[in-house]
Amino acid sequence: MKAIHTKSIIIGIATIVCLSCAPSTKETKANTSLSFDETHYEEATLKTPFGEEIRFRAYTGLYYVENVEDSAYQFLNVFVPEGATQQTPIFMRNYVGGYMAAAPRFPDMNDATGRALQEGYVVVIPGVRGRNSTVTNEQGETVYTGKAPKAILDLKAAVRYLRLFDDKMPGDAEKIITDGTSAGGAMSALQGATADDPMYDSLLKEMGTAPTSDKVFASVCYCPIIDLDHADAAYEWLYGNTSHQQRQSLYMESWVSIHLREEFVKYIDSLNLQKPNGEPLTSENYLGYIEELLIASAQKAKDSGADIPDSIGFSFSSTAGFAAPVNGQIPGMNNSRENPTIGEQQHRQPNFVNRRRQQGDAIIALDMKKYLEYVASTQPLKPCPAFDNLGVVGKTGTGENDLFGDASGSKANFTDFALRMATGDSNAEIDSITKRNVTMMNPMPFIHKGNANIAPHWYIRHGARDRDTAFPIPINLATKLENDGYDVNFELPWNRPHSGDYALNDLFEWIKEITK
Ligand code: DHB
Repeated sequence: MKAIHTKSIIIGIATIVCLSCAPSTKETKANTSLSFDETHYEEATLKTPFGEEIRFRAYTGLYYVENVEDSAYQFLNVFVPEGATQQTPIFMRNYVGGYMAAAPRFPDMNDATGRALQEGYVVVIPGVRGRNSTVTNEQGETVYTGKAPKAILDLKAAVRYLRLFDDKMPGDAEKIITDGTSAGGAMSALQGATADDPMYDSLLKEMGTAPTSDKVFASVCYCPIIDLDHADAAYEWLYGNTSHQQRQSLYMESWVSIHLREEFVKYIDSLNLQKPNGEPLTSENYLGYIEELLIASAQKAKDSGADIPDSIGFSFSSTAGFAAPVNGQIPGMNNSRENPTIGEQQHRQPNFVNRRRQQGDAIIALDMKKYLEYVASTQPLKPCPAFDNLGVVGKTGTGENDLFGDASGSKANFTDFALRMATGDSNAEIDSITKRNVTMMNPMPFIHKGNANIAPHWYIRHGARDRDTAFPIPINLATKLENDGYDVNFELPWNRPHSGDYALNDLFEWIKEITK
């Protein structure tokens, strides 16, 4: 195959070099026909930290819709490592953060894209419009192009494009693994849960997406900020009682917090979830379930040598764990005599010094109140309410309020409760367009048993001290999927704050397993 652009580029370990990957002007252009020319690529090299060179072909600036509203974002880049075939899985990473726009990039050794390329996967990095992306219209006015639900529409369009050209492009569009962190994790979850749902059809059609499916094979979600319509309630239910109460210094804030906690109880019970052992997961036992998951997380870390302090709420077993003899010796004993007497053998128990050291191998309980105080001490909690607070007790709104605004750049409430608080009208309701947008940005209502278009495989992580959204939000996602029969790999990794693309050995082992 002959490359039209034979320019060779080397991308350093940490730098992101974007040559012709981003059209420089922002404009709207209707009726760009979808195309892919397999002979049009650049050759590039990525250096691993060990100096190994990964050679790949870079296909950049591929518009994925016919009616490009925002030419700075609505295209994707495809990176094909040497040796990739039509059967190679595709790793599709979005760089959405804070629900803001993300331009397409080149692969980076500092995140999962570099690793994916190193593992031989085809890497796709789509641009995505976000709550801050704008174009200037013919009248010279600024138009916001990426308010909800535009980001997920762009990602669906990108998948459809890959499927349209699957026969021409290296990589298997039936094996797309999406990846994102935080708001990007939410996007990945939406790609996995909402594929081909008719709710998005008319909007996708207007954009001129390829007339194909937007189904993906696996969804990797690091700390997904999802279920925004219930996130405030979950946050107050979990953290409302902690002593970090600067966030509830006003009487009205406490009232709001208590109201939201009650809302969450009803919500949890409406989900009809089950724990992995089949027991119903209800508002009654939910805190205990979080405790179980956090203990499992801390235990795993402890077993790998981490020091888990009891000061943050853990209790440990009082008896020593079984200590295996080292080279046939009995730990803590004087093993010097080769042929001990029966009496000596009977007394060859681990000595007390050693026993004390062995004590507490098993974590048996967690004082959740103490632990939540600890989480809040590592990073101040979000205010009350945490997500939809525009006009609520004097608050001026969050990134999420910005997300649900309109093309003029406005902010908007997205829950009836906050709208009522903000307007003082106890019957106020979110308008139907906002309601639709809120639904289209939430994977939860789309997850149904037996829905063939939901990604069959899920990898979900939320750090054990990530306070950007409350633990029940990712737990509900993982549990609902698992209850409905999907393959879910879920953990609350120990001591992790809000972050993504970590433990890549674990992630890529999993990817290897599901794609083999
Ligand atoms: C992100 C973090 C948040 O706390 C939030 O509310 C939304 C998005 C982010 O990092 O993408």
